[in-house]
Amino acid sequence: MESLEELFEEQLKDVYYAEKLILRNLPKLAKKVTSKELKSAFLEHTEQTKTQLERLEQVFGELGKKAKGKRCAAMEGLVAEAEELMEEAEASAVRDAGLLVCAQAVEHYEIARYGALSAWAHKLGEKKIAKLLEQTLAEEKETDAKLTKLAESEINVEADVASEKKSQSRRGESERSGARVRS
Ligand SMILES: [Fe+2]
Repeated sequence: MESLEELFEEQLKDVYYAEKLILRNLPKLAKKVTSKELKSAFLEHTEQTKTQLERLEQVFGELGKKAKGKRCAAMEGLVAEAEELMEEAEASAVRDAGLLVCAQAVEHYEIARYGALSAWAHKLGEKKIAKLLEQTLAEEKETDAKLTKLAESEINVEADVASEKKSQSRRGESERSGARVRS
């Protein structure tokens, strides 16, 4: 690989492969989470991913090339981590929090890729391509921000666990006092 054009095309294939992988796997994650908000965030991003793939196909078209993916080991690794978590942990708010972080890692990867690709497109004087990539970059950033908000609001794992423990011990106390009344 010697030119920026070549590097650009390589990375374009990488992200095309990555998006296809996400399109297949994000609905699986959505099925497994217990939080309604997280589920709908995953499903919404699945729809966005379809548009993002179309944009990438447009970019390939602008370059006079056929859309083609190249195996992306990084994204495969991120997907494998999420799969592991789904197998090993029972459905719970804690697992939701883990899957949310997996999804965020995916977004961060994509943000890095689209950021570089759009910068390179500008360098190469490909304004139309840069615009397409920037649209997707903005969507990925929005999704990331949304996930951060969800992580902060709803899935405050420690708080959930602590309040559950408290209510369990309260239940224990009332059962014990009930036993005393009966005796
Ligand atoms: Fe994406």
